[in-house]
Amino acid sequence: MLKWLVCVAFLITNSLAGKKIPDTFLLGASSAAFQIEGGWNEDGKGPSLWDTYLHDKNASENGDIACDSYHKWREDIANVKSLGLDFYRFSIAWSRILPSGTLNNINQEGIDYYLNLIKALKAENIEPVVTIYHWDMPQHVHELGGFLNPQFVDYFGDYARLVFELYAPYVKYWLTINEPFMICLGGYGLGFMAPGLNLIGDGVYQCGYVLLKAHAKAYRIYDEEFREKYNGQVGLVINFDWAEPLTNSSQDLEAQRRYQEFALGWWANPVYLGNWPQVMIDRIAYRSKLEGFSRSRLPEFTQEEIDYINGTSDFFGLNTYNVGQVKYGPEPTIGLPAYTSDIGIVVVNDPDYYHPRGIRDSVNHIHKKYRPRGILITENGKMTGDILDDQGRISLIRDYMDNLLDAVLEDRVNVFGYSVWSLMDNFEWGSYEKRFGIIRTDFDSPNRTRTWKQSAKWYQNVTATRTLDV
Ligand SMILES: *[C@@H]1O[C@H](CO)[C@@H](O)[C@H](O)[C@H]1NC(C)=O
Ligand SMILES: *[C@@H]1O[C@H](CO)[C@@H](O)[C@H](O)[C@H]1NC(C)=O
Ligand SMILES: *[C@@H]1O[C@H](CO)[C@@H](O)[C@H](O)[C@H]1NC(C)=O
Ligand SMILES: *[C@@H]1O[C@H](CO)[C@@H](O)[C@H](O)[C@H]1NC(C)=O
Ligand SMILES: *[C@@H]1O[C@H](CO)[C@@H](O)[C@H](O)[C@H]1NC(C)=O
Repeated sequence: MLKWLVCVAFLITNSLAGKKIPDTFLLGASSAAFQIEGGWNEDGKGPSLWDTYLHDKNASENGDIACDSYHKWREDIANVKSLGLDFYRFSIAWSRILPSGTLNNINQEGIDYYLNLIKALKAENIEPVVTIYHWDMPQHVHELGGFLNPQFVDYFGDYARLVFELYAPYVKYWLTINEPFMICLGGYGLGFMAPGLNLIGDGVYQCGYVLLKAHAKAYRIYDEEFREKYNGQVGLVINFDWAEPLTNSSQDLEAQRRYQEFALGWWANPVYLGNWPQVMIDRIAYRSKLEGFSRSRLPEFTQEEIDYINGTSDFFGLNTYNVGQVKYGPEPTIGLPAYTSDIGIVVVNDPDYYHPRGIRDSVNHIHKKYRPRGILITENGKMTGDILDDQGRISLIRDYMDNLLDAVLEDRVNVFGYSVWSLMDNFEWGSYEKRFGIIRTDFDSPNRTRTWKQSAKWYQNVTATRTLDV
């Protein structure tokens, strides 16, 4: 009886007080250089692929000014500070430091920009979490073939080493490359992102092959040349949205497994287990053969490459947004070679489906299958219109954090931090209307005025109390 009473009392106090966030759990906010900086050609910065891509298209919106963070970074750090965040995730624009992407031309003003930013964060006791590559490839490196050129690995290695030399004394957490899936599928496969290539049958896999070797190169460089001295951690940022099977039929469950392997395993298998997922190897080889190719469209790793990539992660960076549903689909007919046929499942399109528990299942799956030393949620958030009273964003972040904390507290998965996307409304790769910020940016004002939304005030309460009201 007493036990029971104590138990009830505990449950009541716990629910009244909300869910306690462990002291060691880091709370942060994220951004990316191209989406916030502007200053696209200032102080010696070279053009990036995204600058050129949008200028060439004469797009009505581009990243020339964005949030003008190149000039307003002190105000941004002040906001991060007022929010009470443990860390700020931002990225370095490769072509700000190396205007052509290569070491023959080093831009001191670009170097100083990030050095000032990093030192100012440290002075405020905010941990800088630095993404080395967040999509803004130097135009020159793109013209050399970008992720389709095997030599990209060396260009990226040179750049990463320089960045480590410059900033490793101050940075504990490094992210090599942001969202390989989006880079390769969006940029090289379906072409809705720069560089806009439609190579959905083979370029998409070549991109992944080169990208993973570039990631591994940066990791190995840190490991061999910097770790002993600075003892930081290096990881890859993988985007993966959990999907439930539409029904529990064995076919839909198989569709769910295949989705996991083709979306997450494509990247996580080589890095944590060595080599591509077997189902990708088998299906792409099978279909390539019927399509009349002399070899699989999925490049085969040599044993040396497998060993080089295997184990190149100190922690798992996870970007995760909406949880979806998948179901079985009949084998796509042989015809146009395509990733979308290779995966051969059907993604259910139901805009009303809402299943925040998926983040808990997701980190459990990653924990069990890949055994990373830790998981950092590097992005999660919600897009809304231009509103300050963004209750929808607050409830989504609360629901996802709630489920994530269950994974930490009940399932004992080592997730050591959560970062909201994004610190402020920014340039969402072609649009200023897609707003993800907890702080509003006024893009009509030359001042790019920042205004806190309700979600920022709410998040500030969470960091102040280190408690999630649920
Ligand atoms: C680019 O767009 C602007 C306005 O959006 C237009 O005035 C101009 O003619 C366009 N230039 C080209 C080369 O299409
Ligand atoms: C499938 O089975 C699981 C476990 O029994 C259950 O939680 C889930 O609701 C079922 N899903 C569907 C779509 O029926
Ligand atoms: C990857 O590394 C792990 C741990 O060292 C090892 O057990 C595994 O066999 C490696 N995978 C391959 C395919 O070599
Ligand atoms: C410019 O921004 C600052 C800080 O956000 C704000 O205090 C100021 O009022 C703004 N000025 C104008 C003209 O909007
Ligand atoms: C933040 O906490 C204060 C004090 O508990 C409360 O009055 C306020 O409504 C909270 N703000 C938000 C946006 O949740």
